[in-house]
Amino acid sequence: MTPETAAAIHAAAFADGRPWTASEIADLIASPNTYLTAQDAAGFALWRAVAGEAELLAIAVSPDRQGHGIGAALMQDWMQAARALADTAFLEVAHDNVRACALYARCGFVEVARRTGYYARPQGRADALVLRAALRAVPS
Ligand SMILES: CC(C)(COP(=O)(O)OP(=O)(O)OC[C@H]1O[C@@H](n2cnc3c(N)ncnc32)[C@H](O)[C@@H]1OP(=O)(O)O)[C@@H](O)C(=O)NCCC(=O)NCCS
Repeated sequence: MTPETAAAIHAAAFADGRPWTASEIADLIASPNTYLTAQDAAGFALWRAVAGEAELLAIAVSPDRQGHGIGAALMQDWMQAARALADTAFLEVAHDNVRACALYARCGFVEVARRTGYYARPQGRADALVLRAALRAVPS
């Protein structure tokens, strides 16, 4: 997937936020330890793995393709790839992003921290949740 396609998906999926430009996405992909996982031209996950910890920087699916399992497939793909590089995965999500929170819970993510009122909303503020998932089973 090209940075231009990823930027178009990002802009459409995060219609209320500031879209990431193609050049910002290209810079991220070119930076060390940062990876783009794509599902044809419908969605992408951008993630980083450093010092045994993986972090999901962004995940987005085109609005007209949402609700058909593409987000779940992206999560499975990037977590599978990250497993070779990291023991633990982190991500941040707004607590009112119901669809994303449900998806992350299904993928084994649990809340480990909360930043109260982190995101501005037209009617107030939303908390940011920091979620964590184990990528590798701990040997017994
Ligand atoms: C979050 C996002 C990536 C999910 O992608 P998607 O392709 O729509 O997700 P899927 O079709 O794989 O659905 C995955 C899970 O999301 C949840 N979900 C899907 N549709 C939902 C809905 N209408 N309401 C609540 N939860 C829903 C379910 O848990 C679903 O699993 P299930 O239907 O198998 O039980 C996508 O909605 C998106 O791009 N949102 C805008 C950007 C965004 O918020 N990114 C995350 C920022 S942290």
